[in-house]
Amino acid sequence: MAGRNKIADMSPHRVSLWPRQNLSKSVPSPSPSPTKEMPVPLLDLQAQYATMQSELDEAVLGVVRSQRFILGEVVERFEAEVARLVGVKHAVACASGTDAILLVLRALALEPGDEVIVPPFTFFATAGAVWNAGLRPVFADIEPDTFNLNADAVAAALTDRTRAVVAVHLFGQMADLGALRRLAHEHGLALIEDAAQAIGARQRIEGKETNAGAVGAAGCFSFFPSKNLGGFGDGGLVTTRDDRLAAVLRKLRVHGGQQMYHHELVGTNSRLDALQAAVLLAKLPRLAGWTEARRRNAGWYDRALAPAPHVRTPTSRSENYHVYHQYTVRAQRRDRLKAHLDRHGIGNAIYYPVPLHLQECFASLGYRRGDFPESERAAGEVLSLPVYPELTDAQRGEVVGRVSEVYERD
Ligand SMILES: Cc1ncc(COP(=O)(O)O)c(C=O)c1O
Repeated sequence: MAGRNKIADMSPHRVSLWPRQNLSKSVPSPSPSPTKEMPVPLLDLQAQYATMQSELDEAVLGVVRSQRFILGEVVERFEAEVARLVGVKHAVACASGTDAILLVLRALALEPGDEVIVPPFTFFATAGAVWNAGLRPVFADIEPDTFNLNADAVAAALTDRTRAVVAVHLFGQMADLGALRRLAHEHGLALIEDAAQAIGARQRIEGKETNAGAVGAAGCFSFFPSKNLGGFGDGGLVTTRDDRLAAVLRKLRVHGGQQMYHHELVGTNSRLDALQAAVLLAKLPRLAGWTEARRRNAGWYDRALAPAPHVRTPTSRSENYHVYHQYTVRAQRRDRLKAHLDRHGIGNAIYYPVPLHLQECFASLGYRRGDFPESERAAGEVLSLPVYPELTDAQRGEVVGRVSEVYERD
């Protein structure tokens, strides 16, 4: 299937946008032994576009007619909407989720070589941004049920050079921010939320409902097209309650100055296009509905896959409102299951096959296989299945049928 679409070729997110003509409109059939082929993509952005084409086209045309493409009023409106949604004072849009993390780390003005704790089981950008900010990524293992940072492992990784922790809300479920926030307070660390996969996620912390991106010093979001809120290209944003941090971020994204050709800081070019902001603003009112549809799909899979002996469905902790950016199971003989799904055109992906402490580019950090057993085990067992909001009952049934039949043949 490689080469079928540009996103799959260009990005690590490997979504497959298969043509939809084969999709049956028939009644759900979670039969464990499907007989007809019915390809199901991992994500179907065409299906989402079809539900709101005229609104999106109009949003794009509005920017084209205005001929104002960089930052400006549309971006400001989008920032204000996201700040309201997350419940923070400031939202600063930028060019990508990667840049959101990088800009926050640069705004903290740490010393070269200062240490930032990150999980090894995440998308590369989490640790890549630390490295590119001139800081040292220090890995701490994950919790096996949520795939998120383990606060005890973070405590064990602290040194006198530790300055920050990046907690990733992987697959749409928030990391244990109660414990991580306490640890950050105790040790004077900046807690940064990598909320790239978790817009709209919530967690009850000490009895209070809290949004992803509103707990730490900063929350970092991505609007990559395959995200729960996806643009028509790259985009990112930082949320924060901190006036000073927001002011520095606003400078850093435009080469470090507020006044043209006067540079207080060495910043960079990391702005959100007005075109992206217009698309995202048009989509934002639908986000809550899409999230509910993802959660319904996840609940349906949880029930339908419960009898499958070799698949463990994802855990959603009771304090979390999980937004299911991915529906990620653990499977014994995962690669065999993957090959079977590939053969039958069922979209699936391994997020992520190689933990970051074992990446070639980080060899100089001196980590070895065996250092983070939970991350390594997860990398060998996980498989993400289609959970996008427009998934039909028949498609869900097909996915469950194909997942189940592979083991029936043992
Ligand atoms: C956990 C995580 N962090 C950071 C990023 C980086 O976001 P972007 O692709 O917008 O640079 C992503 C996006 O894929 C992500 O999933």
